[in-house]
Amino acid sequence: MIALAAIALLAVTLPAQAGKPNKKAKKFTHETVEIPAVTPKVIAVETAGTQLLIQVDKKGTLRTVHYGAPAGNPDAFIKFSVGASVPETYPAVGGRFNGQDALHVKYADGTQNTELYYVSHETVAKGGITTTTVHTKDYVTALEVDLVYEAHRAEDVILMHSVIRNPGKKPVELRNYASASLNLAADDFLLTHFYGGWAREMQMDQTLLTHDIKVIETRRGTQATQSNNPSFLLTLGKNFSETDGEVIAGALAWSGNFRISFEIDQSERLNIVSGINPYASAYPLKAGESFTTPEMIYTWSREGAGGASRNLHRWARKYGVWNGGKVNPTLLNSWEGAYFTFTTETLLRMIDDAASMGLEMFVLDDGWFAKDHPRNSDKAGLGDWELNDAKIPEGIDYVASYAHSKGLKFGIWIEPEMVNPDSNLAQAHPEWVVQSPGREIYQSRNQWLLDLTNPEVQDFVFGVFDRTMSLSPNIDYIKWDCNRNVTSFGSPYLGDEQDRFFVEYVQGLYKVCERMREKYPDVIVQCCSSGGSRIDYGSMRWFNEVWTSDNTDAITRIGIQYGTSMIYPACVMASHVSAVPNHQTGNITSIKFRFDVASAGRLGMELQPKNLSAEERAIADRCITSYKGYRDVVFNGDLYRLGSPYEGDYYGLMYVSPDKSKAVVFTYCLRYQNRASGSHVFRLQGLDPAKNYKVTEQNVDKSCWWGNGKSFSGAFLQEGGFNPKLLKTNTSAVFILESK
Ligand code: GLA
Repeated sequence: MIALAAIALLAVTLPAQAGKPNKKAKKFTHETVEIPAVTPKVIAVETAGTQLLIQVDKKGTLRTVHYGAPAGNPDAFIKFSVGASVPETYPAVGGRFNGQDALHVKYADGTQNTELYYVSHETVAKGGITTTTVHTKDYVTALEVDLVYEAHRAEDVILMHSVIRNPGKKPVELRNYASASLNLAADDFLLTHFYGGWAREMQMDQTLLTHDIKVIETRRGTQATQSNNPSFLLTLGKNFSETDGEVIAGALAWSGNFRISFEIDQSERLNIVSGINPYASAYPLKAGESFTTPEMIYTWSREGAGGASRNLHRWARKYGVWNGGKVNPTLLNSWEGAYFTFTTETLLRMIDDAASMGLEMFVLDDGWFAKDHPRNSDKAGLGDWELNDAKIPEGIDYVASYAHSKGLKFGIWIEPEMVNPDSNLAQAHPEWVVQSPGREIYQSRNQWLLDLTNPEVQDFVFGVFDRTMSLSPNIDYIKWDCNRNVTSFGSPYLGDEQDRFFVEYVQGLYKVCERMREKYPDVIVQCCSSGGSRIDYGSMRWFNEVWTSDNTDAITRIGIQYGTSMIYPACVMASHVSAVPNHQTGNITSIKFRFDVASAGRLGMELQPKNLSAEERAIADRCITSYKGYRDVVFNGDLYRLGSPYEGDYYGLMYVSPDKSKAVVFTYCLRYQNRASGSHVFRLQGLDPAKNYKVTEQNVDKSCWWGNGKSFSGAFLQEGGFNPKLLKTNTSAVFILESK
């Protein structure tokens, strides 16, 4: 009996056996759909200093044949052969190709082949941007894909994305839907990418790519950039250089799961496929619908990593960051100085101190809200965004107006995507929480995540921003935090379409940001996510700056700021001076060193000023005053990194104004040098060799450079004459260079 039952079970579960016809089998004829022939051509996407060339053969197959320095007349590439094994410009699963795909579609009939052929293209130029749209099509399934290239001429940046359209009558499933694929030729490819964790964001990893696939990705959903950043530098060669050689930088404008994969294939070329991570996200595209992928941002430079960073920064200040390049105020943030423990009196005295030190804004961080479940620790209150009047009975407007009366702007913290289980909101709207039926809703920092795929939640999150703004007409700045990632993902709202969750969470966030900017274009909004866990060009379109890291220790911050600077401009990099021993690392450094590190970005302070000694206060006052004198160059100048904090004993960086008339130079000694070894020579960069620069050291009674106050040619400073004496570990010097 048992044996018979087993045979019966097998009969149910096994597919049709040999000899027996499968009733589900389809009848195939060998008829093929004809693909219209096209005139071979090369489509050129050009900036002032770069060229991307896409070859179209007579069958309409597209191949990227060049990206880099301008290579002359594009037509010279019409017959250029990269070999048939080289992936197409936007490789799809199907046809003869079976390498890394950018597109994978499953059709309603279960088939999964897509072959994209050129249909037409057009180019539209507007301002400094030329947009080229290449229309492609699969002639069997009618699926259409537009490949869109936005060339930013002056910045040498090209944005790439695709639009996938389902003009058919049945739904399809997008199993991979990358933004772009880029194919490159070089002898070696050195990949630099950015990894990390809480309080150690944007650390650098370097890998000489080999014949396999290297993937950088995240599956965290929110806090996407805590572990890996969706960006990289690619040196076309073996050795990383700040100053020389071809480097391509790439960054994806997406604040959720991403995947960037690098494959050196059998043709020895490198194919880079970048886009949303399709992990758990086979995206359904109904009949008539289209899907627009996020932008992949590329630049190329022959001036090493420094050149690639400067291109990205210039582009970001103009196009990639909300009000990019606009100088944001210096500030005192209450977090490390007061944490959750404060009264109105505490805040007013901090405002007094901030004003007397010359700071320009006071930011009230976490802890000001929730009545029934007061936010006195991170265990309660998130979701209940009303004032906790036990702490501030006079109200937010009272504090904000006080700040204004002292000449300071006022900012306030929110974390609108989150809810503590211990809150009224969690009880009122359990269905708004990200969750999966029957499974534990894991807590992280004692909190749950709200389901931003749900339009009601989007309204709520926008409402948190809006209502907070309405607490006072004197709110100038909002710090928007996001302190956890996704676990046990699931949305009650999405029903049986859970595949949409990861993508539509990010789209929901962007919808809220769009509403925020429609109503509040001038409010300064900081993007914070346990520090720098949402640093990407998707969020920066909406935010003015990022909280670079919860790590405020000057020693380790230098490395975090160095990594951040590879891709993101200084104008977004919020950097605060905090107390010692540092609350994260325990390190003790001088207040001058802490200022000299924080001043390389948007300077702020995050401590209790009344705990500073008179001497420290005096140094703080001077550093803040001098920062105001040069910060225009930090915000809008070109960055030149002088070495690396990971190599050697010294590191420096400098910003140079676009007209090269002014620069600010930051120099640091990071490891002990014996006195006999003399001083390190910093070879400055980016100056005009023929101009004379007056060099003035900042924030010191006694200068550490013999040339202080004198004028020198750019040539002298760049070719070896600049050697400030920094002989002790964790000492620093800052200089302004001005040419009349
Ligand atoms: C996060 C942020 C901090 C601070 C706290 C408040 O950790 O990164 O700067 O705002 O939240 O809870």
